[in-house]
Amino acid sequence: MPSYKLNVNNTEYTVEAEADMPILWVLRDLLNLTGTKYGCGVASCGACTIMIDGNAAFGCQRPVASCVNKKIITVEGLSADGSHAVQKGWQKAAVPQCGYCQPGQMMAAAALLEKDKNPSDDAIAAAMSGNLCRCGTYHRIKEAIHYAIEELKH
Ligand code: FES
Ligand code: FES
Repeated sequence: MPSYKLNVNNTEYTVEAEADMPILWVLRDLLNLTGTKYGCGVASCGACTIMIDGNAAFGCQRPVASCVNKKIITVEGLSADGSHAVQKGWQKAAVPQCGYCQPGQMMAAAALLEKDKNPSDDAIAAAMSGNLCRCGTYHRIKEAIHYAIEELKH
């Protein structure tokens, strides 16, 4: 089986996997980073959202071979101590209900704020449009992103 060097959460890993194994499975099954969730597997829910080179990406759609020489950040990589603005915003707004979609939601928000520290509501809506929440926490997600924006101003 081929092996791949990956940079995940600023740590170098070498994994053995088939070239077309989705990075989602590499993260969860080979690296034990289970914060990233499997929802639909067909790019329709956003539960598997991670950051690849600063862009939000659906991990279920990205073969491991395409992730070499890229910087992958998962929800575990935002910060270990909850100090990332998105983590603080999520906590302040008490967003999760069942919680399943939330790592993906947080990574979509984090990717947005990497590019734009003060996005408009339209930009927020566009950036979050691929992430579904069956519990309907959308209002609190938006509130949390606004808290995160305020946090970034300090
Ligand atoms: S599991 Fe990847 S988009 Fe749903
Ligand atoms: S909090 Fe339950 S699916 Fe979003």
